[in-house]
Amino acid sequence: MPTTISDFMLHARELAVRGHGFVEPNPMVGCVLVNNQNKIVGTGYHEKCGEAHAEINALNAAGSLAKGATAYVTLEPCNHQGKTGPCSQALIDAGISKVVIGCADLNLEASGGGAYLANNGVEVIFLDDELCKTILAPFLHRIRTGFPWVICKWAQTADGYIETPEGEDPWISCEASQQLVHEERGRVDAIIVGIGTVVADNPSLTVRHSTAHRTPLRVIVDPTLRLPHNSIVLDGEVPTLIAHGKDANLNELKDRAVSFLELPNIDGALDLRPLMSHLVNEYDATNVIVEGGRTMFEHVFDQHLANELWVFTSQRTIGDQKLANMKSLFDSLDCTLEYKHKSEDDSVCHFFVDCKNNSSTSPVSAE
Ligand SMILES: NC(=O)c1ccc[n+]([C@@H]2O[C@H](COP(=O)([O-])OP(=O)(O)OC[C@H]3O[C@@H](n4cnc5c(N)ncnc54)[C@H](OP(=O)(O)O)[C@@H]3O)[C@@H](O)[C@H]2O)c1
Repeated sequence: MPTTISDFMLHARELAVRGHGFVEPNPMVGCVLVNNQNKIVGTGYHEKCGEAHAEINALNAAGSLAKGATAYVTLEPCNHQGKTGPCSQALIDAGISKVVIGCADLNLEASGGGAYLANNGVEVIFLDDELCKTILAPFLHRIRTGFPWVICKWAQTADGYIETPEGEDPWISCEASQQLVHEERGRVDAIIVGIGTVVADNPSLTVRHSTAHRTPLRVIVDPTLRLPHNSIVLDGEVPTLIAHGKDANLNELKDRAVSFLELPNIDGALDLRPLMSHLVNEYDATNVIVEGGRTMFEHVFDQHLANELWVFTSQRTIGDQKLANMKSLFDSLDCTLEYKHKSEDDSVCHFFVDCKNNSSTSPVSAE
């Protein structure tokens, strides 16, 4: 039975992550209400963008038992009228005596809930909890930088190859790993690939066999528009954006169901930062996945845009071949292993990258 601050906050964090893929661009938030006998009297999380916040769901679950209780909430309660009312006032109205906050809200419109609660006689404790900040990292990153949270995902052999020799089985990761990727695809806002991958593999870049519900935008980075006209990504089934260079001739694709975005050059490559801002400003993106290939990853890393890595490593080895290998590129990054798990025979490592990118645009608001 949970009895300590960290137990209750852990529970609140577990609730918060259930909102992934449903609440964005809002933050994932969980809330646990505990009475003075250390008994949980109500729990809730933010389940869907535009619907009730975590605190309101927890207060509704607790009913009159909320009076005098302590609220453990992963993010500072909002203090503004957005699509729903201010949670700070709702906590006061319900008679909550103490609020333990995992992490402060950086969103200028919604912040100030902690101070408002304290000014109204509620005891407030800010924890500055690292795990709460990890859950909120995409939301906080978007507010800080105006860019989406960029997950780079690849499947590699035990010796680091992301390509296989011609004529051999092209799949590197197992079916369970591919399923995991489809689940995550259904929770993010865009899937980005380089044109080399589209030419080599003709992928559909859609969400399949998944319980998740988002339809991510397909983004192809194709400087000169060499996209083959029979590519699956031109099937019009899913919104698709082609990011191209200045001299690309759009005429041949102008009648196809795709949008275009011209990117400027920087150091001999396309500058991907305007693409990232565009995804936030035009598509309200919070999380995007870059799915390769190696050249694309190199540009993303060079431009300090990667926030997180999902590396699927199979037991297969390829040996010394002139094929794309991620080892040296990975070694050039400054990153920290967040967690590791098995997916059948594959090992899956999740890293956070020290992306050093603090370029800022105006803060983005959440509801
Ligand atoms: N195992 C895995 O997880 C995985 C995942 C994806 C792909 N792959 C494999 O990787 C191979 C393809 O990789 P690749 O390196 O050849 O191609 P790629 O990385 O998919 O695409 C590279 C191309 O995209 C364009 N590009 C991307 N970003 C750019 C930027 N910032 N500025 C300018 N151009 C940019 C360039 O096109 P231009 O050449 O037209 O200038 C570049 O040559 C395939 O064999 C595929 O199967 C493996």
